[in-house]
Amino acid sequence: GSLFGAGGRFSGGTDPIMEKFNESLSFDKRMWAQDIRGSIAYAKANIKTGILTQEEADQIVAGLEQVHQEWANGTFEAKPGDEDIHTANERRLTELIGPLGGKLHTGRSRNDQVATDTRLWTVDAEKDILKDLKELLLVGAQVARENVDILMAGYTHLQPAQPIRYSHWLCSHLAPLVRDAQRLQEIIPRANQCPLGSGALAGNAFGVDREFLAEELGFGAVTSNSLDSVCDRDFVVEFLFWSTMLHTHFSQFAEDVIITNLLRGVEISDAYATGSSLMPQKKNPDALELLRGKAGVALGRAVGLAATLKGLPRAYNKDLQEDKVPLFQAVDTVKDCIAIATGVIATMKPNPDMLMKALCPEMLATDLADYLVRKGVPFRETHHISGACVRLAEEQKISLDSLTLEQLQAIDARFEEDVMKVWDYEMSVERKSSTGGTSKDSVLKQIDDIVSFAEKL
Ligand code: ARG
Repeated sequence: GSLFGAGGRFSGGTDPIMEKFNESLSFDKRMWAQDIRGSIAYAKANIKTGILTQEEADQIVAGLEQVHQEWANGTFEAKPGDEDIHTANERRLTELIGPLGGKLHTGRSRNDQVATDTRLWTVDAEKDILKDLKELLLVGAQVARENVDILMAGYTHLQPAQPIRYSHWLCSHLAPLVRDAQRLQEIIPRANQCPLGSGALAGNAFGVDREFLAEELGFGAVTSNSLDSVCDRDFVVEFLFWSTMLHTHFSQFAEDVIITNLLRGVEISDAYATGSSLMPQKKNPDALELLRGKAGVALGRAVGLAATLKGLPRAYNKDLQEDKVPLFQAVDTVKDCIAIATGVIATMKPNPDMLMKALCPEMLATDLADYLVRKGVPFRETHHISGACVRLAEEQKISLDSLTLEQLQAIDARFEEDVMKVWDYEMSVERKSSTGGTSKDSVLKQIDDIVSFAEKL
């Protein structure tokens, strides 16, 4: 029987299927370090309550450190009846130091314990992910800087729209990741609150110093209400929704790269592609398809846990054990995707010639309209005039820039010799010098801003 399940009031054994159904050790053992940290802090706090003498606390801490060693070495042995990480660690502690181990749990419940462990684990993971994002943003910014002179076609509705810089496009995918990093920074303080000392639901009967516990564990604050503390999983849902947003951004990036790769504008490194078992010529962008695909299940996890929480009565209910698997999966998937995205960006090679080939003079039709704007013609009028030029070129089956000055002047007499200067992609791009625009200076400024943000992560 387990430490708690077969406690004093139970006589019969548990159905083996129930044990398997109920156990969480198989997955919550990932929180072994956090569980031990929480217990060490709790032992220390219980010197002040008078539950433990200094010597007893020292013995418990020494025992917990030994349990820590066993997990770290991979020698910890789970026993039948170890229901979860909390009971497993306590069972082992008591084997190591005897009945004194049974004093550790005084006033504590697995309810405040699991909430504490999960928060510690989540905050650790979130801080770790911030470091991964830092690396991704710095690599992305570096690649953007190196390729700032390359031009490409910008699209709306997947229709050729206006020329832009390759780096401007790349930065357009880094900007959402900056927001993701900011959002992650914003949710950490809400996860980083200490529920320990809330007991099963009503609070701690021995006057434990919760502020001390919070400080020992590195939490930024204590939670405010013991009932809420044991069932609040907002921080898990927030992470899941956060990850959904990140994956959505990765998905959009992946789709753009897949399309650009199809147009031969970029080449994805062999390191992130696969071949076909049948077609020798194939090089498939599998890494990007997976990046694109992960967003769906990520959203499913967020919606799934939110639905689990919906309708739960106060306070702890075993439904809450369903938080771990999606949380762990989400963290793993996020870390994998950041690593893959970093690698893809670092190694994919833009092909300037092919990117240039995707540009066409029609993409300068707006510049043609803007030319007349600069001569004082209202834009609504110039838009119409430029449209007439596009139509004429189409009718003549020539490109827009092949229209002669005479043909242009036949459409509008205000076209002059200098109109031919419009047919320059580089100048078109350079005119977009507003903040956040695609001119070289504007893009370099965006890159600088990304770097200075990332460096502080
Ligand atoms: N394994 C449980 C979980 O993950 C720990 C808390 C169990 N508490 C209880 N009273 N059954 O949520």
